[in-house]
Amino acid sequence: MDIREIRTEDLNPEQFINEQVAKIKAEVGDGLAINALSGGVDSSVVTMLAHRALGKRLITVFVENGIMREGEPRHIVGLFRSLGVPVRLVDARKEFFSALKGITDPEEKREAITQTFYKTVFGRLVKKSRAQYLFQGTNYTDVEETVAGIKRQHNILGQLGIDTRKRYGYKVIEPVIQLRKTGVRSVGKALGLPEEIYNRPPFPGPALTTRVIGEVTPDKIKLVRKATTIVEQELASSGAFQYLAILHNDRVTGIRKNRRDFGHQIEVRCWESTDAVTGTPTRLPYETLERLAGRMVSEVPGVVSVTYNITKKPPSTIEPI
Ligand code: XMP
Repeated sequence: MDIREIRTEDLNPEQFINEQVAKIKAEVGDGLAINALSGGVDSSVVTMLAHRALGKRLITVFVENGIMREGEPRHIVGLFRSLGVPVRLVDARKEFFSALKGITDPEEKREAITQTFYKTVFGRLVKKSRAQYLFQGTNYTDVEETVAGIKRQHNILGQLGIDTRKRYGYKVIEPVIQLRKTGVRSVGKALGLPEEIYNRPPFPGPALTTRVIGEVTPDKIKLVRKATTIVEQELASSGAFQYLAILHNDRVTGIRKNRRDFGHQIEVRCWESTDAVTGTPTRLPYETLERLAGRMVSEVPGVVSVTYNITKKPPSTIEPI
């Protein structure tokens, strides 16, 4: 691998920003560039760097895939607009849900999302924009894991030997490729991003899809989205690494208004971890667990059972799929 890591302890964020902005200006010249913003730390930092360098010659799109958290698309787009960065919100919900229809296998779900995003939706936007440059938030860990064959990050093209200019007509620029996540966070802070962005808890690219067991439908996403809001509200002050709600596929018997109710099960997970490679469930106070269960059954329609995961990673993983 010929990419040199900049270790977080050696990083001077202001100097890094100046160097990257100058590099982008030199590379893109008076050309046109495009990027997709998700609101995650990497794509947010890249958006800010490219915007500083290119201003209106950067087209930033936010793809609403229908599988994000409550109010997330509008919130992120609004936040960047308030920072002076114009963002186009593209509604692709139908395309994502139709690609997910009938799929129950976890890897096939991820693949359907990757294909719909890159080939169908974003691919079409890039082509239409006639941009010659595409910015991506690839970081050093992504490269390392791809090269080691641990996981194939969908954003790695160059590392897989794909010449995007020849194949797709645009060049990929990856301004944070030398940084680990902690480095990207400190650059985000120096760029003036709000703390809710640069210190964001991890959230997976395939979004709430990773938290629905079985087929993903708009109705199931609605349920898990509600449960996610509750978990995030109740556990934000826990100081945990990550916390999530999962909608199970099997139904269980419950009682409501003295009648049998064959209802939904929600599983809550809350993790202590530093790097997501290993993890231990947080020893949450029992009162917190009771409050979570109470809110789930009264606020999420059809839920009759709430469980808390007490298994370490490994053998568990952070996300259920
Ligand atoms: P697991 O479930 O493998 O998760 O223990 C480790 C960390 O990675 C996140 N995660 C993902 N992030 N795309 C992502 O961008 C994915 O497909 C994906 N799957 C898991 C997970 O939230 C945790 O922080």
